[in-house]
Amino acid sequence: MQPYYVTTPIYYVNDEPHLGHIYTTIAADVLARHKRMSSFDTFFLTGVDEHGQKVQQAAETRGIEPIELADTVVARYESLWPQLEISNDDFIRTSSERHKKAAQAMWRRLENAGAIYKGFYEDWYCVPCETYWKETQLKEAECWESKTCPDCKRTVEKVQEESYFFRLSGFQDRLIEYIKANPDFIAPESRKNEVLRFIESGLHDLSVSRTTFSWGVPVPGDEDHVIYVWIDALTNYLSALGFPDQETPKHWPADVHLIGKDILRFHAIYWPAMLMAADLPLPKRIFAHGWWTVEGEKMSKSLGNALRPADLLADYDADVIRYFLLREVPFGQDGDFSFDALKLRYNSELANDIGNLLNRSLAMLNKYNDGVLGEPGEEEACDRALIADVEGMQRDVDALLNRQAFHLTLERISLVVRHGNRYVEDNAPWALAKAGDTARLNTVLYHLVETLRLVALQLAPFMPVKVEAMLAQIMSADVNASELMFHDLGGWGLLKAGHPCRKPEPVFPRMD
Ligand code: MSP
Repeated sequence: MQPYYVTTPIYYVNDEPHLGHIYTTIAADVLARHKRMSSFDTFFLTGVDEHGQKVQQAAETRGIEPIELADTVVARYESLWPQLEISNDDFIRTSSERHKKAAQAMWRRLENAGAIYKGFYEDWYCVPCETYWKETQLKEAECWESKTCPDCKRTVEKVQEESYFFRLSGFQDRLIEYIKANPDFIAPESRKNEVLRFIESGLHDLSVSRTTFSWGVPVPGDEDHVIYVWIDALTNYLSALGFPDQETPKHWPADVHLIGKDILRFHAIYWPAMLMAADLPLPKRIFAHGWWTVEGEKMSKSLGNALRPADLLADYDADVIRYFLLREVPFGQDGDFSFDALKLRYNSELANDIGNLLNRSLAMLNKYNDGVLGEPGEEEACDRALIADVEGMQRDVDALLNRQAFHLTLERISLVVRHGNRYVEDNAPWALAKAGDTARLNTVLYHLVETLRLVALQLAPFMPVKVEAMLAQIMSADVNASELMFHDLGGWGLLKAGHPCRKPEPVFPRMD
């Protein structure tokens, strides 16, 4: 089986999970589920980033140890993921022994390659972003007067300490060459150009250790230093695969790292440079998605408007949240979350389009043939067109998900749904029943049920629970979404004459 490896960022434990965290994780989950259904040996990793000054400070403010804070937040994530139907294969904690060992092994490799040297860091640091800034960079970004971070606009602090450095500057040309030679490496395109511009403006060596706090992985051989949290964190993608015991793990290189646009520089510059220095293969793709605002406003702690997953789940099914987040905004662009938009999409696309096609098709099958599929007769042009559309959808979905175009995927599936609803109108099964044209009626109902079955299959990665309910009615059997395989079930014509379907029960009741 071909391996497939998808990751999310590992989330800082200084804060509770919010909309931004569930977004990336849901997107990764859809890819993982789709690849499992496509018979890939899939590995889907998420986890938490526990070290660094930010987490240490958050713990100090609460008067607890960093590990206590981490344990509390980890418990929140671990109970949240199943509620959102997240099917991760592993959960990495950077405080775990397996990770510390990997981070130290990575350090040793960089050191042995001559990519690390000792020096003195005297410049600025943004704790919320865990980012170093040079005076010149603050000046260029017009953040010098205010002493604020060019990225997050919060106050930066002066850091003066002995530090190890990574020879990032030495990778400038190789990185540019690599990015240009591999056009799919960084997506979307606009982000790739941003990264290129950043590299071309000149890379400086990166400070990669700290001595003024202790919450981190000790530098091997010099325990007064802890490894810079980003060097530590990026290594998670390898530690979960058993690195360094497994030097070339089966699932490395990753097929795609999904991240938010704010952490692109770390993933598209630091991480590839580290891997080049360590002589390890680079991930195949890095996709940076956009940011959500909520009801038109930036989510922030001070406004207290961060959208908590628990609040969403209290009112909406996980599948509806999953569908909305991936349908509403093209992956890669910024977007706004609003409850009105969610209801609008739900009612029009899920209740009206899909729900209606399922209900009316099964209702007619029950009314005219006791719920049993009849033998389909000779195909007419409109039947062939519907089949062609279904098969086109299957190919398109695969290609679209390979480039993380979630909204286009859902749009493509809804084209078939709307085609199905038109097919009902055009063929008017009620008129065929009235005229006693059983042969044609059987054909039309058969095509509707097969279409619904194959639409449900394509929707399974997005809405596993809703699809189980849809397929239970169609298949007259209990269905487990995580056992569905395209290979077994993806062909047109699997259902045979005589197959019974259940009575329709609304899977997508209208929302008021
Ligand atoms: N710990 C680092 C990642 C290390 S990966 C080796 C980190 N953690 S984080 O918890 O601060 O952020 C995790 C992700 O949440 C980032 O990808 C970020 O883009 C995303 N989001 C945070 N707020 C967001 C929105 N408002 N909208 C969408 N995503 C957002 O960074």
